[in-house]
Amino acid sequence: ALITLRQLLDHAAENGYGVPAFNINNMEQGLAIMRAAAATDSPVILQASRGARSYAGDIMLRHMVEALSEMFPRNHVVLHQDHGNNDATCLSAIRHGFTSVMMDGSLEEDMKTPASYDYNIEITARVTRAAHAVGASVEGELGVLGSLETGEAAAEDGSGAEGKLSHDQLLTDPDEAVDFVMRTKCDALAIACGTSHGAYKFTRKPDGDILSMDTIAAIHDKLPNTHLVMHGSSSVPQYLQDLINANGGEMPQTYGVPVEEIEKGIRMGVRKVNIDTDCRMAMTGQFRKVAQSKPDEFDPRKFMIPAMDEIEALCRDRFERFGTAGRA
Ligand code: G3H
Ligand code: 13P
Ligand code: NA
Ligand code: ZN
Repeated sequence: ALITLRQLLDHAAENGYGVPAFNINNMEQGLAIMRAAAATDSPVILQASRGARSYAGDIMLRHMVEALSEMFPRNHVVLHQDHGNNDATCLSAIRHGFTSVMMDGSLEEDMKTPASYDYNIEITARVTRAAHAVGASVEGELGVLGSLETGEAAAEDGSGAEGKLSHDQLLTDPDEAVDFVMRTKCDALAIACGTSHGAYKFTRKPDGDILSMDTIAAIHDKLPNTHLVMHGSSSVPQYLQDLINANGGEMPQTYGVPVEEIEKGIRMGVRKVNIDTDCRMAMTGQFRKVAQSKPDEFDPRKFMIPAMDEIEALCRDRFERFGTAGRA
């Protein structure tokens, strides 16, 4: 059944587990994620970006997620708008059956320019009032995602934003977080702790200098009852880089967020863990493998089936390791 983010994360907080929020754009991603949820008896957050909504269409997305929840009746599902950029995006998502929205006021409407604190407070509080009036949940974001290695802010699409930022701007300030949650009344808070979107997060396996678990601990200490969200949580596993590169891909060596760091984050209060890139790489890796090993193949299902299996295996692993398994 579809439930709200607040309902799911309250349960996660009571029981000390994390919930992956996987991005979806199409039926195959949805099926693969739900098969993994069913196999591990897990609840799940399915999130659609603005790009996903224009790719599949709002009507398609709503019916797809309703179909998935009918096919997998044991698993609780949240349908969440990822990175809403203004009131209209968030409110139209709710009108199309989303039970939760992210109002990302950490960036201006262009989703590239770091926004002022006042702008963020005002727009997040306004969207939260409107969403709560119709029973939907809201995730806000405070702090700009970006690289502590280069000082570059990370735009929503994984590209760098203009200008260099200081560590202060790239790490969420715990006292500001308290003020932000009190004034906006958001249900969940995305924080910046050194992660960024896309495959190219770190040029080496991250340590405390470039991935700040201390930030999470400090915020959770001051806001024990707010559900923390970790964006940019793909692990960019080596086996998927190898699968892609062994089959004609040319991805330069890169490092994501190690799963054990996410596990640490969950112990420190992270409840929602956003993952898109890993599922993209799983799917594309298998597409490439079929294309290279069976050049005479032209039935798309022969590409989709191994792609779905690869996504399912990845999702099962995350459900197990985040403690989501058995909580459906
Ligand atoms: O945060 C970004 C997500 O990975 C969604 O990406 O806008 O290309 O669908 P997208
Ligand atoms: P990744 O690019 O690390 O998968 O992050 C996805 C995300 O944060 C979506 O909001
Ligand atoms: Na989100
Ligand atoms: Zn994100």
